[in-house]
Amino acid sequence: MNKKLLFNFLAVVMLASLILSACGSAPTEAPAAPAETEAPAATEAPAATEAPVTAGLACAPNCQYSDLVIGFLQTGSEGGWRAANTASFKETAEQLGLTLKFYDSQNDLAKQVAGFHQFIQDPEVNVIVLAALETTGWEEVLQEAKDAGKIVVIEDRRIDAPETLYSTYIGSDFALEGRKAAEEMCKLLEGSESKKVWELVGNVGSSAAKDRGQGFREGMTACGIEIVNSQTGNWSATEGKQVTEAWLKESKDVQGIFAQNDEMGFGAIEALKEAGLVPGVDVKILSVDATAGAFKAMLAGELNVTVECNPLLAPQVYEAALNAANGEELPAWVPSQEGVFRSDDPNLQEITDGRTY
Ligand code: AHR
Repeated sequence: MNKKLLFNFLAVVMLASLILSACGSAPTEAPAAPAETEAPAATEAPAATEAPVTAGLACAPNCQYSDLVIGFLQTGSEGGWRAANTASFKETAEQLGLTLKFYDSQNDLAKQVAGFHQFIQDPEVNVIVLAALETTGWEEVLQEAKDAGKIVVIEDRRIDAPETLYSTYIGSDFALEGRKAAEEMCKLLEGSESKKVWELVGNVGSSAAKDRGQGFREGMTACGIEIVNSQTGNWSATEGKQVTEAWLKESKDVQGIFAQNDEMGFGAIEALKEAGLVPGVDVKILSVDATAGAFKAMLAGELNVTVECNPLLAPQVYEAALNAANGEELPAWVPSQEGVFRSDDPNLQEITDGRTY
């Protein structure tokens, strides 16, 4: 009898331990790979182990605009476009009731990076908005911002950094603007035997300058435009004028000027007039931005075309910041909608009257 009891007890213990080991232990072998698994392509998206760009703020999923304290790193104040961009951020912040801390980088990259660090260390700031002076050199600060739990939104100028380090980029397709500019210059120089063009370049390290230049070069081959001079005017009317004056001293054999922004176009117009040439007639002038000043110059017949670059980005940027705060995943890039305006537009006066920047 005792033997039988002992046998039964041992049998129960063995059965129980078998069941437990089957339920709790890890499989001893890795599962076989599916027969048709393909090796990942070299260009594949970042590893899935990377933490999501924004896990949202503590207020998620009910964050309101009043919960946002935004540190905005502006490039500087180089002209009408930038003034409109800055005003858009300040006015919209007031309308929405969010707190804006504004930092003027004064077109100095070292200052902009210092400002970035300042916002990372500021415990009140939960969102950083960057209008980058240069495309490169951002990875380290972006990683620091991410580690500190800050949301980063890139506005206006795209950067060369992994998309996993920021929430989204809201801004123009600068390469498209360059291609549109080339297409318009081709039309302006149609029938001209010689198609020599001078290019006034923006700040050379910026995405706006690089991509507009590249887009223009892609488009200009369609009609045989030749860029014979290309130099930076740093987005400024004064420098645009100085560069054009220096070129005019060497030669007046030029049929078109492609100014990468309106301000440099205004400088070129002044230089041409002082050299006894008629801007818009003797030399076709094309610029980018479509600010109120460009419309006035077109009404005066001195500027032929302006390609639009939209500076009123704050409503989209703030909305994106709020969505990121609430833990939403955002598209890597939201391009702005933009047009082209020509001096022979029959509605030019009306458009000019409605232009607020
Ligand atoms: O990034 C946009 C460019 O920056 C504008 O075309 C120029 O005017 C500004 O400074």
